[in-house]
Amino acid sequence: MTQQTLLLGQTFEARGNPMTTPWEEVITVNSGGAVLIEAGRISDLGDARLLRRAYPDATVHDYGHHLICPGFVDAHVHYPQTAIIASWGKQLIDWLNTYTFPEEMRLSDPAYAQAIAARYLELALDHGTTTMCSYATIHPGSVDAFFTAAGARGLRTVAGKTCMDRNAPEGLRDTAQSAYDDSKTLLERWHGQGRASYAITPRFSPTSTSEQLSALGALWAEHPDCLMQTHLSEQLPEIAWVRDLFPAARDYLDTYEAHGMVGPRAVYGHAIHLEPREKDRIAEAGAALVHCPTSNTFIGSGLMDVAGLAARRIPLGLATDTGGGSSFSMLHTMAAAYEIAQLRGTALHPAQLLWLATAGSARSLHLHGQIGTLVPGQEADITILDLASTPAIAQRSSAANDIWEAVFPTIMMGDDRAIADVWIKGAKRVAMEPAPG
Ligand code: GUN
Ligand code: ZN
Repeated sequence: MTQQTLLLGQTFEARGNPMTTPWEEVITVNSGGAVLIEAGRISDLGDARLLRRAYPDATVHDYGHHLICPGFVDAHVHYPQTAIIASWGKQLIDWLNTYTFPEEMRLSDPAYAQAIAARYLELALDHGTTTMCSYATIHPGSVDAFFTAAGARGLRTVAGKTCMDRNAPEGLRDTAQSAYDDSKTLLERWHGQGRASYAITPRFSPTSTSEQLSALGALWAEHPDCLMQTHLSEQLPEIAWVRDLFPAARDYLDTYEAHGMVGPRAVYGHAIHLEPREKDRIAEAGAALVHCPTSNTFIGSGLMDVAGLAARRIPLGLATDTGGGSSFSMLHTMAAAYEIAQLRGTALHPAQLLWLATAGSARSLHLHGQIGTLVPGQEADITILDLASTPAIAQRSSAANDIWEAVFPTIMMGDDRAIADVWIKGAKRVAMEPAPG
């Protein structure tokens, strides 16, 4: 008989999308819930009393009043920027040139890339993130380093080689042909290998020529089951630059569309300053947008219209955008999403915030068949939240009138201390030593 593990606690259960359906109809928390894990997957979900009786031989982990959630899914990060997170004083283009590009250059050294990949993954796991969709650098070795480190930890991840053939420094440029060739080799090496998926990754229109975008569009057409990730309409000076670089384009999205880079498996980060046509086209294509709220305030980009885009039924994910984002924590990211929505006149409910950080992000990456909910059949990536992890949080949650009042202080004030445990494919995480570097 396969080994059975039973996690007891308060279970976060999602049966639908609370951004398009009233959250009360699709989200519940079972205060006496249980999740059964067998062979790395969730095999049952229900009342602790019933499941204890039904599975008397299971090994029980009783988490009391902790919240049992799907592992957090960070839908847009740059693991190579781990060491330059929280760099002061620049907006997007200057921030890239001053901090990001010099650091990304260092990942030409495979040993450094391996050290940063390990450091990043341990930090993300400390914060309860079990799946991440990352940009690498232009160096193929940075993709190998990431997927190797993720595989050693058993993680489901998505990543791709960042492609740039202009407007980047010497040493950080590829060509249209080498971007195609290297991406193809990496895709064939990693896509579907264990829990890895490959994403074709042009950084953004300003750093790719039309020739490179066309080459990557052709590669995507040859491998339509891969994601294609890039940046879109993040900051106003960036958009003006795109207009200068692509005078024939109708708008920013059109610079991708003209090269075959709009489709249901496209994932665009930021998407703050969209034109009506762009929203229409994204909705029609079924492409996903990723909200990066700590980055959007930290780099000074703007306030994404989450409620408006969700109402268009555009799939939305949530992300740290490490290191343009100012945190590794998806809790912190949910707090920033709440604050930005408030500034736009909407109070996102804690059920919506937790859903965006789990099922919403999983859906944006087309991984909802595998991860993102506590549904039987899903891979057992699970994050356990202590809802009283600091004195400040505990004094507020102890006075809560319902579960959502108990959860919200952890969303707003929680950090890695709130992560009681992380389960990866059915095994309790044991922290690994990040490689020195
Ligand atoms: N646009 C192009 N590259 C980047 C990046 O690395 N971070 C962010 N936030 N925006 C970008
Ligand atoms: Zn980004």
